[in-house]
Formats: sequence, structure tokens, C-alpha cells
Amino acid sequence: MEDLELNELYEEALKAIDEVDSIEKVNEVRNDYLSKKSKFMGLMSKMKELSIEGKKVFGEAINKAKDEITRKLEEKRAMLEKRMLDEKLKREEIDVTLPGINYDAGGKNPFYIIQDEMIDIFLGMGYEIAEGPEVELDHFNFELLNIPKDHPARDMQDTFYIDDNTLMRTHTSPVQARVMQEKQGKPIKIICPGKVYRRDDDDATHSHQFGQIEGLVVDKNITLSNLKATLELFIKKMYGEKREIRLRSSYFPFTEPSVEVDVSCDCGGKGTCSKCKGTGWIEILGGGMVHPNVLSMSGYDPKEYQGFAFGVGIERVAMLRYGVDDIRRFYQNDVRFLNQFKRK
Ligand code: DAH
Repeated sequence: MEDLELNELYEEALKAIDEVDSIEKVNEVRNDYLSKKSKFMGLMSKMKELSIEGKKVFGEAINKAKDEITRKLEEKRAMLEKRMLDEKLKREEIDVTLPGINYDAGGKNPFYIIQDEMIDIFLGMGYEIAEGPEVELDHFNFELLNIPKDHPARDMQDTFYIDDNTLMRTHTSPVQARVMQEKQGKPIKIICPGKVYRRDDDDATHSHQFGQIEGLVVDKNITLSNLKATLELFIKKMYGEKREIRLRSSYFPFTEPSVEVDVSCDCGGKGTCSKCKGTGWIEILGGGMVHPNVLSMSGYDPKEYQGFAFGVGIERVAMLRYGVDDIRRFYQNDVRFLNQFKRK
């Protein structure tokens, strides 16, 4: 009698396991058939009516049935878990053979490549970097550089005025005066890189905004030969050991004597080279010995101190180095131009 009931219950359990299709159901079926209040426990209670021998046989049969149900439930659970994992993997599958999204890395504008190179060369010679404002006072941009009001040299450097006394600086030279006032009597060895502004018509060699690097050395016993040696070293580092420089006398209100510096052309000065127009020399920068008035106006005794200074256009150096034909290319953000300077 009990055997029959056990068999029925066992079959019923197997059927229930068969129909299970989720982990929750596995737990439900386990509860129904194997927990303390389960149907099998109900059968156990009937054991007390059996003989000792009968108890033994029936007990073993129940345990066997329960073991079997436990095993089948675990099998089912493992199968369901595997199925869930397979589905999840399928859902999250990525196709590694699909082409990726190409994020193009940017590069440095050649203006900054050259500016950084120039700065490196001067840092290597022991210069420090100084900076000044781009919106500058007339006082620093002109007056302290020995260019009083109505001086004709102002005509060459017309600019954008904020008011009568404030303007967009026309060169980096005002930083000279600012640093001299700050260092009061102490030796100076600085470069000042930065943007400058002019009311120029934009063409292949002019722009209303461009970059300059100013150099200033003030100390005792500074001579023109120090300037020459410094610029020669700069040019050789920038353009190669074979390059020579040439100093021509010139005029700037803030230097005396003043020089225009030319670099030898790589064509050797023959024929109809467009870079040097056949002369063999290319004008690259201006410089000179700091004018005694400039020294004394900013607190240095010109009898005790001398200085040399120079100013060089960054785009000009870059154009010569890379053979760029038009200054505007630095500002137009044309990737066909810019990509040529990308570091591989
Ligand atoms: N400031 C000048 C200009 O922009 C360049 C220059 C010439 C700077 C001679 C100097 C110098 O320091 O000594 O045209």
C-alpha cells in the first residue's frame, strides 16, 4: 500500500521536475517534495504503522526516491543555469571583426612646434622665460622703449587701441621694460615668447596677429659679440651647422647700435632662389645693444650695465624651416596643411 503511494508520489515528482523551466520553479518543487512539510514527509509519518522490517524497507525506499529527486533537481538547476548563461553570452556577443571607430589624434600646430623648439634652445643657454600682458600700456609698449609720442617709429607699429593709453602690444619688447623694473639692478637673462598685434593688411607675409620671441640679457661687460655668438648658436641649432649669420647695421629706437640679422640661404646664393631672391641671405630678426635711455628709464645705470636684445618672429622662423609660402596657413586650420606636421 505504502509502496504504491510512494511510487505515485515519486512519479508525480518526476513529472513536476520535468515541467520545471526556471530556477524559481526548481526551488518550488524542492519545497513541495523534499522540505519538512513536503509530501514525502507526509509518507514518513505512516512508518509508525509498519513492522520493524517493514520500516527498514520502506525507509530505504523513501530515501532512495528522495536522493533521486534531489539529483534530478540539481541536474535541472545546472541545465537551467547553463541555458541562462548561454543566452546572456549570446545577447552580449561582440563581433571583434567589425571595423572600429577611428578617433583621429590631433597634433601640434607647426607654430607651436617651432616656438617650443626655440624656447628649448634658449633654455639650454640658461635663459629664463618671462611673460607680459597682450593688452599693454603705451608707457611700456613705446615710452619706456625710447619711442615717445609722435616719434616716427610709431608709424611702423600701428595697432588696435583700447583707449588713448592702452593698446594691443605691437611687439614683445615691452616685457624688457617690465622685467627691468622688476629685477631692479640685478642681472637679467630672459626670453619672452608671446602674441603681438599690428594693424597690418593680412597677406602672405603679414598678419594682424603673430608670434614673437624677445631676448634680453643685461649685465656688466656685455658686448655686441655676445649677441652675435648667441644668435649664431641659435641659428645653427635651428637650421643646421652649415648656416652662417650676417649682421647688417639697422635702426631701432630701443637699441644702439642696432642690427638686422640675416641667415645664409641653403641655395648657396646662386641662381634665382625664391627664398633669398638670389642674394644668398635671408633676413630673420632684429637686435642690438640696449639703448642707454632704455636702461636708465627702467632703473639701470648705463655706465655700469650694458645689455643686448633681439626680437624674432615665430612664424617667420617656421616658414623658413618648413618652406611654408603663406603665413595665413598657420591660422586656417586646414587639416591638409596641419597633418604634414603630425608626429608619427
Ligand atoms: N620689437 C622689434 C619689432 O617688433 C624687434 C626687435 C628689434 C626687438 C630689435 C628687439 C631688438 O629686442 O633689440 O620689430
